[in-house]
Amino acid sequence: MIVCVCNRLNEDRIRTVIDGGACCSDDVYARCGVRKNCGRCQETIEEMLDEKTALVAAA
Ligand code: FES
Repeated sequence: MIVCVCNRLNEDRIRTVIDGGACCSDDVYARCGVRKNCGRCQETIEEMLDEKTALVAAA
C-alpha cells in the first residue's frame, strides 16, 4: 500500500527504514532519500513509528 503518494513510498519501504532505526517521520523521509511534501502521510508514518516502539517495549 502506498503511504506517501507524493514520494511514492509504500508501507514496506517505510517499515524497512523504521526497522533500520528511523526515529521520527523526518528521519524516515531522509532515510528514503525524499522530503516531506504535502505532509498528509506524516500521521500514518508516526503511527507506524509508535507501533514499532510499542513492539520493542513489549519484547
Ligand atoms: S503524501 Fe507524503 S508528503 Fe504528501
